[in-house]
Amino acid sequence: MSSIRLEEIKKLLREYPLKKDRVIISKIIEGDKLSEMELTRAFQLSLPLFTLMVLNKRFERNKQLAENEWSSTKVKKLDNMGTIKNLEILPLIDYHGEGDLSTEKGVSYYIKADNTGILFDTGLNDEEKHPSPLMKNMKSLGITLEDFDYVVISHLHGDHVGGSKWVSKKTFSLSGTQANISHVKAFTPVSMNHPTAKIHHVKEPIVIANGIASIGSIRNPLFFFEEVFEQSLAINVEGKGILIIVGCGHQGIQKIIDRVEALFDTPIYGIIGGLHLPIPEFPGDDITWSGLPIFKFIVTRRPPWEPWHKSDRDYTLDYLKARNPKLVALSPHDSSMESINAFKDTFKEAYIDLKVGKSIKIS
Ligand SMILES: [Fe+2]
Ligand SMILES: [Fe+2]
Repeated sequence: MSSIRLEEIKKLLREYPLKKDRVIISKIIEGDKLSEMELTRAFQLSLPLFTLMVLNKRFERNKQLAENEWSSTKVKKLDNMGTIKNLEILPLIDYHGEGDLSTEKGVSYYIKADNTGILFDTGLNDEEKHPSPLMKNMKSLGITLEDFDYVVISHLHGDHVGGSKWVSKKTFSLSGTQANISHVKAFTPVSMNHPTAKIHHVKEPIVIANGIASIGSIRNPLFFFEEVFEQSLAINVEGKGILIIVGCGHQGIQKIIDRVEALFDTPIYGIIGGLHLPIPEFPGDDITWSGLPIFKFIVTRRPPWEPWHKSDRDYTLDYLKARNPKLVALSPHDSSMESINAFKDTFKEAYIDLKVGKSIKIS
């Protein structure tokens, strides 16, 4: 921006403080003539309004596409996919952690299901470090690249693919540079690439390995961003039921649970991961951005003038509670402490704190 432009803005702010905008708006409504300065200001006012109108148009179109796709998708049962006897979920990256382990507002969980190893998402690494917080935590917790056979990417957001720099390249990484993981097959919810891993683009629900399935890529609109396609995992634990592993939960609890119940006659045993409940998000040391409570306005499935509200959390709690889950662990990477406490109050002994380094074992 040139200094001349800055001077113009300073002059406008001096001569036309915000309260004067109301005068301009009422003049426009009344059809009164505007001065040259008022016209300039009216043009400036119209730009954000115009941007919101364009974004809303895209949002409404994507919302319709998502609803059409959801209502027209018929899924086949996956009940014969087998069961898992021993299951361990070890959070490698999330916002809360134990000891000296690194924490981030991102997700990466190591899943050991009998003899199958899965890395679910690859963290945030927002400082593009090498080794990344994920790699450092893996080393501290004794997990190596050889410990997993599969990578599952929940969705193409920076906090799940190892940083925003990989989002535009439609890939993922465990660190500042992409390691050789040629032994790995990666299941992604949109078309992605990787220099060494074999990629499988998941559309419909699919069995990944014995007892482990993706519930399929579910499409949803986001107001300020491209639409999001997200998949979750369903693990059939022998004698217990289906454990759901979720990344950000952009699909919403209803679609996640409805899809799982359409795929399996086995009851839901539990849910671990993010459900995007940043309520109230302020004040506190929750998941704000530069101290600002933006997350209840963005990356939701609604326009920013309908921010996420306590009633959305109550809806999520009620929908889950009706299934009487035996294990619930909410990711703090996209939910406030208030939401975590509401989950604790609701699910009592079934609730487990989700922390980096704190292994959740089911057998
Ligand atoms: Fe997320
Ligand atoms: Fe996300």
